[in-house]
Amino acid sequence: MQRTPLIAGNWKMHTTTSEAVALAKSVAEASRGLADRQVMIAPPFTALAAVAEAVKGSGVHVAGQNVCWAEKGAFTGEIAPGMLLDIGCTMAIIGHSERRHIFGETDAMINKRVAGAQAAGLIPILCIGETLAEREAERTFAVLEAQLRQGLAGITVADPAQLVIAYEPVWAIGTGKTASKEQAQEAHAFVRNLLAEIYEKNIACQIRILYGGSVNSDNVDALMQQADVDGALVGGAALKADTFARIIRFQK
Ligand code: PGA
Repeated sequence: MQRTPLIAGNWKMHTTTSEAVALAKSVAEASRGLADRQVMIAPPFTALAAVAEAVKGSGVHVAGQNVCWAEKGAFTGEIAPGMLLDIGCTMAIIGHSERRHIFGETDAMINKRVAGAQAAGLIPILCIGETLAEREAERTFAVLEAQLRQGLAGITVADPAQLVIAYEPVWAIGTGKTASKEQAQEAHAFVRNLLAEIYEKNIACQIRILYGGSVNSDNVDALMQQADVDGALVGGAALKADTFARIIRFQK
């Protein structure tokens, strides 16, 4: 089953609007002519509309770094799925480890976000991953299973291309310490088997699973060569135009 690779840049809390537009234009330029892969960028909310406008027609997807479950209402500080769609977003990152560990988002909350995004027609990118303490205590698989099952509770999949999972070991995020290609493949295969249990094999083998955590231009090729690694969620290296351009042009 063919899964279109997805290279996603998570800009986190970086860039002013003008910096974001300049970077977005360079991403669009670097993505030109690459029909066999998808590219996504997730700027901060303040720059989303300008970035969406800047990459219009380039094929580059634009995503929110988070999204609320509700369509509107008294949710101070939140952004509704329809608001993201309105300015041209097609995807939303949900349950990123910084949301979980710095801002205390729970699996129940994350599950509601996935449901809300999906109902509105946004592609949810559900992030899961173990901390260093959990890995050292050999709890990696238990943590991934709990996060995946709770994050996907009640979520049905009509089109497997419209749901993305990101495996991001917390100890590898922003640390320069990437998971080895073997560690990544082992976790991705585990996640895919779980998806086959939650849904069915035919669906599981069409859902993309991204790796995230210190992906850079030197390690992207080896990671992308793993059978169950279908893309990358890139933080720090997505802020450098040249480096991200090389990541987009990964070689299998
Ligand atoms: P990093 O971040 O590439 O800077 O490690 C990845 C992420 O948090 O998505």
